Amino acid sequence: MKTAPLQSARVRNEALEILSRFGVPKTAFATTGIPASSPITGELITYVRGTSPEEADAAIGDAAKAFNLWRTTPAPRRGEFVRFIAEELRAAKADLGRLVTLETGKIASEGLGEVQEMIDICDFAVGLSRQLYGKTIATERINHRMMETWHPLGVCGVISAFNFPVAVWSWNAALAFVCGDPVVWKPSEKASLTALATQAIVERAVHRFTDAPANLSVVLIGGKDIGEVLVDDSRVAVVSATGSTAMGRAVGPRLAARFARAILELGGNNAAIVARSADLDLAVRAIAFAAMGTAGQRCTTLRRLFVHENVYDRLVPRLSKVYASIKVGDPRDPGTLVGPLIDRRAFESMQWALEEAREAGGIVRGGERIEGMGGANAYYVRPALCEMREHAGPVLRETFAPILYLLRYSKLDEAVRLHNAVGAGLTSSIFTLDMREAETFISAIGSDCGIANVNIGPSGAEIGGAFGGEKETGCEREAGSDSWKAYMRRATNTINFGTQLPLAQGVQFDVQD
Ligand code: UN1
Repeated sequence: MKTAPLQSARVRNEALEILSRFGVPKTAFATTGIPASSPITGELITYVRGTSPEEADAAIGDAAKAFNLWRTTPAPRRGEFVRFIAEELRAAKADLGRLVTLETGKIASEGLGEVQEMIDICDFAVGLSRQLYGKTIATERINHRMMETWHPLGVCGVISAFNFPVAVWSWNAALAFVCGDPVVWKPSEKASLTALATQAIVERAVHRFTDAPANLSVVLIGGKDIGEVLVDDSRVAVVSATGSTAMGRAVGPRLAARFARAILELGGNNAAIVARSADLDLAVRAIAFAAMGTAGQRCTTLRRLFVHENVYDRLVPRLSKVYASIKVGDPRDPGTLVGPLIDRRAFESMQWALEEAREAGGIVRGGERIEGMGGANAYYVRPALCEMREHAGPVLRETFAPILYLLRYSKLDEAVRLHNAVGAGLTSSIFTLDMREAETFISAIGSDCGIANVNIGPSGAEIGGAFGGEKETGCEREAGSDSWKAYMRRATNTINFGTQLPLAQGVQFDVQD
């Protein structure tokens, strides 16, 4: 109890020092408003000044003006701007990574990894800025040429969650910028500080770039009401929203009502299958990272594990040992692998799910709060392993906490059926050395998720691939591959360089002239 106030002063001071090094203006803070806290100690760092709905409306208008200029800036030149952001991020990696740790409770290497993910997507986007290719298509008409051209779409709204407070913005923003779209960002209320720091980094790039339009990148600080302003504004052409399925159910129809484009990255209830032939040494390590990393607070976290009956009794004791010995604690300490939950609500929903698991006859190991660690408002828990009798109850929903449900199976097709029998469809994996099983799992009759892996866990995707899911996880993709197309509009152009006017499909329409 004695050390908690000292610790919190250190967290607060360090966070404020980092923000001042980034040059975040004092006007961003206030004596009341939106509290910015650290889950490490549960204490307040500062209050952040919220954006009013009128200010949000004006900011969107400013971004719309920026679009008029940015869309005519050549794409490789727009890529140059993103290259500056990547350079500034490289210079800021240690500080920004640390701020991610202080504000969200991620362990140090994950805080730094998050910034690396931002750098990676910026590098990807720089290359992409010279590769926004359209197709040339064979036409049926003589002396005609048909092609596709990709044009900037308009203002891109980004709504992000606390758990990847800055990387998810960058997946969207780096692509949007090279595609010619200004970005208006509404970060999670639980992660305003990292958003302000990121905005300060972008402003450094704007300054160096010299001819970037004002308000190319805007941040709106606030809660649901400010998010709604962004979602409902007809000047915002595409909204990329990351959060719960409940949030997506609210946002999706509002965007559809005004025919705006939606990129929705919602809940996941990710599973893995450990088959009879699996390399258990590798599986144990992969499962540990996927299920306990980021304290179970990734959208890609492994939550359900189907284990073949022949290996179940070998795997589960090994997992139990790893779970019992993993170091939970202050995420700033080297050696800590599991930091705190984000807040009290996360802790309560975890306890509720564990209670349901027990009521369903499950054997629950771990899951309890580590009393006294970090102070009264900090929530450190031991990750939980739950041996379940049935694929039912809490197993069917996403609880954003380190809970892994274990189930035995005997036939792969039955495991795949249960694997797919949940609302969400984000990510998945199989551990097997049998190529028939591996290929079946990633085939049309296998995993129904947007990501399906073999012999690695379901989390920790790299940016080169398209990221996103199916069913209640939402729609569209972010990051690599051809995800950029969501941030542009496609025009099909047919050009007649002849003197005749042949009509498609052989239609005759001869008028007297
Ligand atoms: C998220 O949890 O919202 O694949 C994103 C991963 C990370 C991104 C997670 N690269 O786990």
